[in-house]
Amino acid sequence: MWRLAEDTLCTAEIHALADWLKRGERLTQGEKIKQFERAWASWVGSADSVFVSSGTTANFALVACAAELVERDTPRVGVSAVTWSTNVSPSLLMGHEVVVFDVDPRTLGLDEAQVCAAIEADEIDILFVTHLLGLDALTPTILATAEEHGVIVLEDCCESHGARHGAAKVGTLGLGGTFSFYFGHHMSTIEGGAICTDDAAFADRLRLMRAHGLARESANPAAYAAQSPNVDPRFLFVATGLNFRSTELNAFLGLGQIPLLDERIETRNRNMQRFLAGAPSWLRTDFHTAGMSSFALPLIAHDAEGAARAREVTDALGIESRPVVAGNLMAHPFMQGPRVRVAAGGLPHAEAVHAFGHYVGNGHHVTDAMVDELCAALRA
Ligand SMILES: Cc1ncc(COP(=O)(O)O)c(C=O)c1O
Repeated sequence: MWRLAEDTLCTAEIHALADWLKRGERLTQGEKIKQFERAWASWVGSADSVFVSSGTTANFALVACAAELVERDTPRVGVSAVTWSTNVSPSLLMGHEVVVFDVDPRTLGLDEAQVCAAIEADEIDILFVTHLLGLDALTPTILATAEEHGVIVLEDCCESHGARHGAAKVGTLGLGGTFSFYFGHHMSTIEGGAICTDDAAFADRLRLMRAHGLARESANPAAYAAQSPNVDPRFLFVATGLNFRSTELNAFLGLGQIPLLDERIETRNRNMQRFLAGAPSWLRTDFHTAGMSSFALPLIAHDAEGAARAREVTDALGIESRPVVAGNLMAHPFMQGPRVRVAAGGLPHAEAVHAFGHYVGNGHHVTDAMVDELCAALRA
């Protein structure tokens, strides 16, 4: 059976965790998490990283802290029409205005012309880019236009660990980038997520957000204590915060997974290239694969007939599949509301992905023979 994903945690890693647990060390956020954060930042190529409980809470913390830097009362956040719900729901929960952009069919990332027009017309304050299915969603023009107009760029890299934009890994190109370590992603900590950033003050703010807004989470608690001499510094709340912490167990597992990533990404990318070379012409194979870290194999047809045919083939082979993430997010009930609007030009490419696309899993469990069988059945 070709499943969507197999666990990236192996039995030896669980045994290692069990042995470590027998040492009776403290299990709430502590040294292992600090160690993981250093290792993750170093692997991604950022100055710092903050480990949290999921990709979703990473997204929440990132958007919440970035929104504090926006002067406007209601920050306007630009998002992709094809992404996971929790790229957008933090903004909706916080009362932001959301502007939804179409995707580029070759990258499944943002439509450059539409995004740049909106930035030039001063329609957004924050651009939350999603690198979907491990493809590089950014372009030099989007980055340059955002910088020129003071738009804060955030990256959702929850499906793109190790993907590159040019020489840099994604997650390092804006103010912050988020990652998910949920089962089925490039690596797993069971549940887990991280935010990477090069900005020390921003990392400090993220750590306050992660843990109740407590001053002691800051790198400089004494400075906060001096500003509030009437409050006991042991419980001094200096920022609005929630609880997005993870545990030492998850960090222990993550530390074991990082060294395995490069080889796994190579396997994923080899599978994706083999699939694109073998797929028939009625499926889209013109993806921009430079720098990718493939998450899944996309079967996006040019029309409804092709889409039905592709689905018949994967179902007949017993291959587990899913829509291309949420398809067009605007088709989902949670997006209906007065604070969401679609950018000028509409979402024709997102609608095509929604109507004609589905994906099958990629990972270390997918072999050349499995890819070849799928391609042969599609071509037959
Ligand atoms: C693009 C994207 N963002 C965010 C998330 C949320 O991550 P998590 O499941 O760890 O909350 C996912 C989950 O798959 C995702 O694909």
